[in-house]
Amino acid sequence: MENFPFAFILPTPSLIPSAHDNHIERRLSALRGQFSDQAAYERILAQEDTLLYEVYEIQRPHESGELLTGISIVHPGKVGSEFFMTKGHFHAVLDTAEVYLCMKGEGFMVMENPQGECRVEKLAPGEVLYVPPRWAHRSVCTARLEDLVTFFIYPGHSGHDYGTIEQQGFRKLVVEGEAGIEIIDNPRWSKKGS
Ligand code: 6PG
Ligand code: NI
Repeated sequence: MENFPFAFILPTPSLIPSAHDNHIERRLSALRGQFSDQAAYERILAQEDTLLYEVYEIQRPHESGELLTGISIVHPGKVGSEFFMTKGHFHAVLDTAEVYLCMKGEGFMVMENPQGECRVEKLAPGEVLYVPPRWAHRSVCTARLEDLVTFFIYPGHSGHDYGTIEQQGFRKLVVEGEAGIEIIDNPRWSKKGS
């Protein structure tokens, strides 16, 4: 990998980086067990393995001192009353932070740390969110028709721990309730290994 300065464009309206190394597509089947309404999940999956979100990554060595960047595009939709969302993860190296810049759309970042503290931050264009070290993070798209697009930056050596979230879930969920968008406690949250 070359070690010269480089630049790329985030062209509107797609915001897909002009130069990217990976394009990841995550479908409904990749989030089995994450949505509360399992019947709704199975009903949709029986029809189609819906594309929930995509990630365009600009790769660099996965080393301390390097930064990884890219675009995350969460598509609009719901499973039952729950909005489409990313898998969510802790960084494998827990003490690594991340910065998100919301480019388009509307949604929330659901976050929690191992101590059980939770935060759910609104995302809107121009909003910059700092996810401190030790906080797991999941993007949720709450717009009816528009994608939630964020630009992210995080340390090269961070890695991803998906297993903890796959087992525990997040303590908070973002759903469409009678009063509109609601942040509720996850009735199925349980400590890993309990
Ligand atoms: C990361 C970033 C970000 C994230 C995407 C998709 O650490 O790589 O947080 O790129 O991976 O938003 O979310 P999931 O990794 O949870 O599928
Ligand atoms: Ni991350």
